[in-house]
Amino acid sequence: VHLGAWLLAESGALITAAAPAHVYAIVSDTNAGPVAGPLVVGSLRRAAPASRILYREIEPGERFKTRESWQSLTDWLLEERCGRDTTMIALGGGVVGDLAGFVAATLLRGVPVVQIPTTLLAMVDASVGGKVAVDTAHGKNLVGAFHQPACVLVDPTVLQTLPSRELRAGYAEILKHGIIADAGYFDTARAQVPHFLGNADQVEWSGEDLASLIQRSVELKAAVVREDERENGLRRILNFGHTIGHAVETASGFRLLHGEALAIGMALEATLAESLGVAASGTASAIVDALREAGLPSTLPPDLDVVRLIDTMLNDKKRQAGLVMLALPASIGRMAGADSGFVIPVERDRIERLLRPAGGA
Ligand SMILES: NC(=O)c1ccc[n+]([C@@H]2O[C@H](COP(=O)([O-])OP(=O)(O)OC[C@H]3O[C@@H](n4cnc5c(N)ncnc54)[C@H](O)[C@@H]3O)[C@@H](O)[C@H]2O)c1
Ligand SMILES: [Zn+2]
Repeated sequence: VHLGAWLLAESGALITAAAPAHVYAIVSDTNAGPVAGPLVVGSLRRAAPASRILYREIEPGERFKTRESWQSLTDWLLEERCGRDTTMIALGGGVVGDLAGFVAATLLRGVPVVQIPTTLLAMVDASVGGKVAVDTAHGKNLVGAFHQPACVLVDPTVLQTLPSRELRAGYAEILKHGIIADAGYFDTARAQVPHFLGNADQVEWSGEDLASLIQRSVELKAAVVREDERENGLRRILNFGHTIGHAVETASGFRLLHGEALAIGMALEATLAESLGVAASGTASAIVDALREAGLPSTLPPDLDVVRLIDTMLNDKKRQAGLVMLALPASIGRMAGADSGFVIPVERDRIERLLRPAGGA
């Protein structure tokens, strides 16, 4: 992972060093592409004058993280006669990273991918760790692979064009990293909320300021993935908030952003953890307070279809025989279940009661 302000101007040298190829296929979307595309293409042209550079932008948004997009990108690369000497470059948020990463994982049984995240969420989370996937009607990320990037290039200056709502959504993953592994980082991130998220209309920070927060998040996530790449134990702690969060995201028809749905998922899962006696009292309220300060939601939207929500959640891949397996906090900075692979089995009734308005059975 290379991290630095204005790094994209030198991205060509970093890409060609990490994953030299005859063809570089850049995938971006129509928001990230105009911001960062020319820098990367220009730098790559200088670094690899003899290579071919392909470039394509997809429509932005979770709605396009599908098998149809996977197919059309794959067909494009095959029509362009890309061989195994192709390096793909995912230049965008988590949607582009997951989608282009999955194309790279499957094209000719796998070609290298370089992740260049352009949203805060993708910088601190999605681009690191090697999980790539597309969504299906049955739920999010249900078709995918583990495909580690050849390298990750993080240039926080591209965040200056990111809408503040997206910035807040990325902050949810930052808070998550603190909650699951580092109470000090949670406090630091919380203390800096007014600086980064305080005044939605007046951006008074340069992307560079965020670099140290991003760096700590990347370190925390990378340390977990290094320990347990295939999610047989420790890596499950990264799923905190996501079992309920993914279901909320899907049930909202993607009106809620991933980070917003995660915020709700963390608040609810922490409340559940406290009611089960798994989490120390005060854990949920500390999380809810931090989310509120960051302008993130912590309760289900009133118009959300709860039946669909529960249905989606019970379809989630982290489920076993009538029980839902959740990664739950013991306190801020420490996850529960270290002796049981970091998952706590919770009865579905218990979760249904939590999610149904008025707590009715
Ligand atoms: N693979 C993983 O480990 C992992 C982890 C977390 C999340 N994810 C996935 O990531 C996705 C969410 O990622 P996201 O929040 O980055 O969403 P996103 O990719 O949809 O990006 C958010 C929005 O910002 C725009 N954008 C991107 N960069 C920009 C820039 N520099 N300036 C202006 N606009 C810009 C995008 O076009 C989009 O409209 C979800 O699909 C989620 O499942 C994956
Ligand atoms: Zn996430």
